[in-house]
Amino acid sequence: MPETAQVTTNGDGRDAPAGLEGVVVAHTQIGDVRGLEGFYHYRQYDAIELNRRRTLEDVWYLLFRGHLPDRAERESFAREIAEHRVLPDDLVPFLRTLAATEPYDPLATLRTAISFVAQRSGFRSWLDIPADQLYDNAMLLSAQTPVLVAALHRLREGQLPVPPDPGLSAAANYLYMLSGERPDPQHVWALERYLISTIDHGFNSSTFTARVIASTGADLGAAVVGAIGALSGPLHGGAPSRVLEMLDDIGSPDRAEAWTRAALQRGDRIMGFGHRVYKGKDPRSALLREVATTVGGSTAEFAAAVEDTIVRVLGEEKPGRALNANVEFYAGVVMDACGIPREEFTPTFASSRVIGWCTHVLEQVAGNRLIRPAARYDGQPPPQPVPAGD
Ligand SMILES: CC(C)(COP(=O)(O)OP(=O)(O)OC[C@H]1O[C@@H](n2cnc3c(N)ncnc32)[C@H](O)[C@@H]1OP(=O)(O)O)[C@@H](O)C(=O)NCCC(=O)NCCS
Repeated sequence: MPETAQVTTNGDGRDAPAGLEGVVVAHTQIGDVRGLEGFYHYRQYDAIELNRRRTLEDVWYLLFRGHLPDRAERESFAREIAEHRVLPDDLVPFLRTLAATEPYDPLATLRTAISFVAQRSGFRSWLDIPADQLYDNAMLLSAQTPVLVAALHRLREGQLPVPPDPGLSAAANYLYMLSGERPDPQHVWALERYLISTIDHGFNSSTFTARVIASTGADLGAAVVGAIGALSGPLHGGAPSRVLEMLDDIGSPDRAEAWTRAALQRGDRIMGFGHRVYKGKDPRSALLREVATTVGGSTAEFAAAVEDTIVRVLGEEKPGRALNANVEFYAGVVMDACGIPREEFTPTFASSRVIGWCTHVLEQVAGNRLIRPAARYDGQPPPQPVPAGD
């Protein structure tokens, strides 16, 4: 702080730690992360156990409706999703224009498409619409986001979008809409594990962003678009493609140690390692390591060897920091094995996390209070005389 600065505050004088680390900013019944235990949950269920035993649609239902569905509820939810997946025909020319934009950034393009879908679908401030309409908005964006990702990808490649197949699950549909081919069941299984593992994860930056925007009374589209903006940063959602680039750069397991030491010497962060909350193991990384081992072939073996080396070197170079692989490390390996192109990794992450964002917006508005913290001004003491203009 400059010596001349006066400390003023419009809060109660307490400073939150940098990055709001560990500060409780809301009450939630959606889920939580227990960093020291390496445990996270969706509602009252262990998220890893849910992942092993349930479908993505069941977990989506759990988050939106508060309980796991029975057979009849599952069937009617599947119909609801299928209806909401259908893209209006007049959207395609707009998507075509977006897909041709240079320079091309798939996540920024998705963000723009979602903004358009929300506006075109008449999304309005949740203060002005009934709760069931907001729920419907949440179903629409959650169902259409993967369809938009796939359509934009195909248009970019000079192909026509593949309409969703109402008979396919969310994960199978996604692979089908990307490639136009019936997906391999093992790839569907692997992708579904990834998607479920990333639906929600405590008060991460994009979720917090979505809740801040929703707290102003903004429409749901604004909250999701803002959340995608937060997700776009490499410190949050942009790491999985960088992990594959890193693996390419390392090339072979025997080079991993020297590569890691050189990167740390330069002051670089190793992508796919470290986490704000997990100070032990990230349970998503352990799950996806298993999934990668099943579908990822030699890349998965290589990644596992590199992981072990990087964890050892980080332990030596950054003692006491407990830096382990996070969800992003194996995410890239799993998505790559399923045939998802690298540039679509973060949009694929967004296509499951949108369910979490929407759930949080629904919860935020149910007990809303405008989120408006304070900052401590530590610039030159005001008021200084304003110099006369030239
Ligand atoms: C995720 C992340 C942003 C969490 O950061 P954070 O909670 O703010 O952690 P900090 O910045 O306080 O880091 C603590 C220490 O560990 C180091 N560290 C953290 N993650 C690191 C990484 N991936 N590589 C190298 N060092 C790392 C920091 O440099 C810092 O060391 P220092 O105290 O000597 O300066 C951070 O671990 C990171 O940048 N990881 C790489 C990007 C990534 O994988 N993102 C996906 C997250 S799911």
